[in-house]
Amino acid sequence: MHVHRFERVWLVAALSMIVLFVGTVTFGAVVAGYGMVDAEGGQVDPTDPTTSESFREPGVYNGSEAGHYDVYVETRRFAFVPGTTEPIRVPANSTVTFHVASADVLHGFEVVGTNINTMAIPGQKAVVTAEFDKAREHGIVCNEYCGEGHHDMAGTLEVIPQSEFNASAEVQ
Ligand code: CUA
Repeated sequence: MHVHRFERVWLVAALSMIVLFVGTVTFGAVVAGYGMVDAEGGQVDPTDPTTSESFREPGVYNGSEAGHYDVYVETRRFAFVPGTTEPIRVPANSTVTFHVASADVLHGFEVVGTNINTMAIPGQKAVVTAEFDKAREHGIVCNEYCGEGHHDMAGTLEVIPQSEFNASAEVQ
């Protein structure tokens, strides 16, 4: 069977693209550690996560080890609680686990300049951990369309020096 040269070129190009796309997904899952919002975080009340056993009043908490913190964030149209009205403050040189849950519709929780980027699915808690080595400010944005105020849904994460953090005593 004679296959025209251009036909062959396109066959190779199409097959290469499939291999490339499957490769990027595999790389993300295996090497870069991208994951799904799965059962790990547990289920929460889709209208009031704070009533659920796996969630707490939104805020910053001391973690199980020194230098570790847990931050509970509620997403609601169109704010991060905390984050929007009040910035989230954590100390530099810390490991922070964010527990994110929505109180209404699907939202996103992306901390700009870090690899934190998760969906907040109603009824499901998302858990993401990151290390913050130096003091700086990060923006927080919602990247899932959640309604007419979506483009205004933003917040701030302030990574501050440990001494300043101790003095502020906002941690619970
Ligand atoms: Cu919340 Cu878009």
